[in-house]
Amino acid sequence: MPSRLPAPGADELAHSERLLLQLRELIAAQGAIPFSQYMERCLYTPGLGYYSAGTTKFGAAGDFVTAPELGALFARCVAHAVEPVLGLLGEGADFLELGGGSGAFAEHALAAFAAAGTLPRRYLILEPSADLRERQRERLAAALPAGLYGRVQWIDRPPEEDWQGVLFANEVIDALPATRFTLRGGEVYEEYVALDGEGRLLRQDRPADALVAGAVRHVERDLGEAFADGYRSEILPQLPYWMQAVAGALRAGVMLFVDYGYVRREFYLPERGDGTLMAHYRHHAHGDPFHLPGLNDLTASVDFTALAEAGNSAGFGVAAYLPQAQFLLASGLPALFEAAYAEAADEAARYRLAQEVRRLTLPDRMGERFQAMLFARGIEALPLPAELLAADQGGRL
Ligand SMILES: C[S@@+](CC[C@H](N)C(=O)[O-])C[C@H]1O[C@@H](n2cnc3c(N)ncnc32)[C@H](O)[C@@H]1O
Repeated sequence: MPSRLPAPGADELAHSERLLLQLRELIAAQGAIPFSQYMERCLYTPGLGYYSAGTTKFGAAGDFVTAPELGALFARCVAHAVEPVLGLLGEGADFLELGGGSGAFAEHALAAFAAAGTLPRRYLILEPSADLRERQRERLAAALPAGLYGRVQWIDRPPEEDWQGVLFANEVIDALPATRFTLRGGEVYEEYVALDGEGRLLRQDRPADALVAGAVRHVERDLGEAFADGYRSEILPQLPYWMQAVAGALRAGVMLFVDYGYVRREFYLPERGDGTLMAHYRHHAHGDPFHLPGLNDLTASVDFTALAEAGNSAGFGVAAYLPQAQFLLASGLPALFEAAYAEAADEAARYRLAQEVRRLTLPDRMGERFQAMLFARGIEALPLPAELLAADQGGRL
C-alpha cells in the first residue's frame, strides 16, 4: 500500500474487501482478466464500484474536484459557447450530458440557458451509475424551479431515434475502462490481472488479441515509429464503437468533450513509458490501481487524436480543439466573471470567484492539462463564437 495515503476507516476497508472477494472469485473461475475489465469492475460493479456504490466523492471534501464542482463559471461558459447552436436548431433541440457527476454542471447550465432564453427542449442525462443518478435527481429537484427541473430526463442508453442538439461530456472519456498494453520482442502484449499464490492481485502480460494489437499498430503507424520493447501505456480500442453508440443518432448539432489529455505524439512520448494511469484517493494521486479497489477513482488521460478519429468515423468533423483555458476565455469567461464578481455578496464570495478562475485557467492547474474538443455535424455555417474558432489548435492533432 502506498504509505503516504490516508488510512481508510473500518467500513471503507470492509467495502473494498467485498469487491476484492468478488474479483478473486471472478479470476479464480475464469482465469486472469484484462486490466480494462478490472478497471470496469472497480468503477462500476453495482453496489461496490467507485461510481456505483455511494463512495464517489466529488468536491473539496472528496477524492477529486472537477471543473463544474468549482462553481458556476465553467457551465456558464459552455452554455455561452453552445447557445447559438441551440438557437439555430430551434425548439426541437436537446442537450445531452454524459456522466453528470454530482449534477453541478446541469444545475448551472440549465440556469444559464434559462437566463439567456435558449433552453433546450429536454436536458437529457446519460448516467450509468444508479447512485449518481439519485444524487443528481435530489440536487436538481432541490435547486431548480419546477419549470426547469421538468426538462431534465435520465436515459438508460444513448438516444436511438434521430435527434439534434448538443452532446456534452466533462471527464467521462478518462473514466472509460482503459486497455493497458506493452511490447515484448516487438510483439504487442495486453496487461491482465491475475492472482498470486496468496490471493493477491498481480499484473500479468499476455499476447494481445487482434483488436488490441491492431489498435496499437495503428498508433505506431500514425506516429511513424514502433514502440520500444518494455514500453507500456493505455489505449481505448473500443472508442470508435463507443462514439458511434453515444452519438450515432445526433444528426445535426455539436459535441463537446473536455478532459485531461494530449495529442497522440505527446500522449505516447518515449519518456512516458508507464502510461498515464492514475488512482485518486482523497485528493492524493497515486499509481497503484490495486490499492483499495472500489475506494479509488481510476483514470487514464485521453489521446485526443484518437478521440478525433472516433468522432470522424462516426461522421463528425472536428470544429475546434484547444486547451481549457483558451476555450473558456473564448467562451465569455472574462465577461461572465465580471458579472458574477459585481453580483457577489461579500469579499469571501469574490475571493472564491477569483480562485475559481485561477483553478480553471492557470497552466499548472486545469488550464493546460485539460483540453476541449468540439465536433459538428449537419450544420452548414457553424454559429460558434468567432474567438473560439480563431483559437482552434486542431492543426496539432
Ligand atoms: C470523473 S466523473 C465526471 C463527472 C462530471 N462530468 C463532472 O465533471 O463533475 C465521470 C462520470 O462519467 C460517468 N460515466 C462513466 N462511463 C460512462 C459512460 N460510458 N457513459 C456516460 N457516463 C459515463 C460516471 O458515472 C461519472 O458520472
